[in-house]
Amino acid sequence: MSVIEVKASQSYKVHIGRGLLGRCGDMTAEVINPCRIAIVSDDNVFPLYGETVKSSLESAGFTVSCYVFPHGEQSKSHDNLLKLYGFLAEESFTRSDCIAALGGGVTGDLAGFAAASYLRGIDYVQIPTSLLAQVDSSVGGKTAVDIPAGKNLVGAFKQPRLVLADIDTLGTLPDEFFHDGMGEVVKYGMIWSEKLFELLESGDVKSHLEDIVSSCVDIKREVVETDEFDKGLRMILNFGHTLGHSIEKTQNFCGLSHGMAVAVGMYMITKAAEKNGIIAEPISDRLRRCLETNHLPWSVDIPAETLFANSVNDKKRFSDDINIIICKTIGKAEIVKMPVTEYKKLITD
Ligand SMILES: NC(=O)c1ccc[n+]([C@@H]2O[C@H](COP(=O)([O-])OP(=O)(O)OC[C@H]3O[C@@H](n4cnc5c(N)ncnc54)[C@H](O)[C@@H]3O)[C@@H](O)[C@H]2O)c1
Repeated sequence: MSVIEVKASQSYKVHIGRGLLGRCGDMTAEVINPCRIAIVSDDNVFPLYGETVKSSLESAGFTVSCYVFPHGEQSKSHDNLLKLYGFLAEESFTRSDCIAALGGGVTGDLAGFAAASYLRGIDYVQIPTSLLAQVDSSVGGKTAVDIPAGKNLVGAFKQPRLVLADIDTLGTLPDEFFHDGMGEVVKYGMIWSEKLFELLESGDVKSHLEDIVSSCVDIKREVVETDEFDKGLRMILNFGHTLGHSIEKTQNFCGLSHGMAVAVGMYMITKAAEKNGIIAEPISDRLRRCLETNHLPWSVDIPAETLFANSVNDKKRFSDDINIIICKTIGKAEIVKMPVTEYKKLITD
């Protein structure tokens, strides 16, 4: 098992290993005095792991209530958030009680935002069960819900008190979500660690899951410790995301999943930067092969003009500068500020 301490505005440990769910009660009790705890989980994850987590928490002295909601992004909504607030109020949760988010990124973001806002803030722990949640969303304190105007538009920074990433839970994660999470894993290799990238190139991911999740969490730790509130370095985590979001938006969020769209975005920006002489040593072929090895796409049938238009908002389209994340070598990302006109040329030429 690895333990990584994140020293943010509130410090906490991220435990990564196997068999953690059965010990989550004692591990939680080390950082939060036994109190009422609400397990927040979706209807795929709760039937698989809810009982194990509940009985472990109860054995450690917690009084457990369970809030289970329908799985999927549509549950990261204000409606569901209001229901969750209502549930906590009905169960008489006070400021000394807490929440355990058991599930993927949707659960973590929803439960985290409820914890950030209910009674002006209560404690929460993250028990991520998807690859994406283990390597990314459970660490760093970004919480949010979606509103009709866009994804993640209402949220807060709220660091958890503890993160328990049990690798065993990935055994039941459907392949499509596993591959989707691999998009973010390849991103970590590209922006920070050639060693991680080399492991991903080998294609032998499943037998190195604990190492891979630990490497990603350690990278995120370093980025978050340097720039908790997303004013500078944390932007590098958006490598591939400007074009990735544009792909998702163009396809009305019904086409490529987020991680797949990011994979295409990473390849497209790297190839474009190479073509325009921003990158001296070619790396895009290596990136493409690594994406293929990990069941990720690298191209999409959308005109470059459309991708450009949907990747900058209307106000920005003809003025302002835009920050683009570019990896000039594998394992190192740079924030490159350029006029939007230059960005347009980069994408569409
Ligand atoms: N807060 C952050 O920093 C951050 C970062 C990246 C992404 N996100 C958010 O994360 C969300 C996506 O996360 P996600 O991909 O985990 O989505 P998700 O929570 O919807 O999980 C994906 C699917 O896998 C199922 N699942 C999860 N764990 C499982 C398991 N162990 N076994 C079987 N099924 C399991 C879920 O029920 C769901 O159907 C998005 O809303 C995104 O905005 C947040």
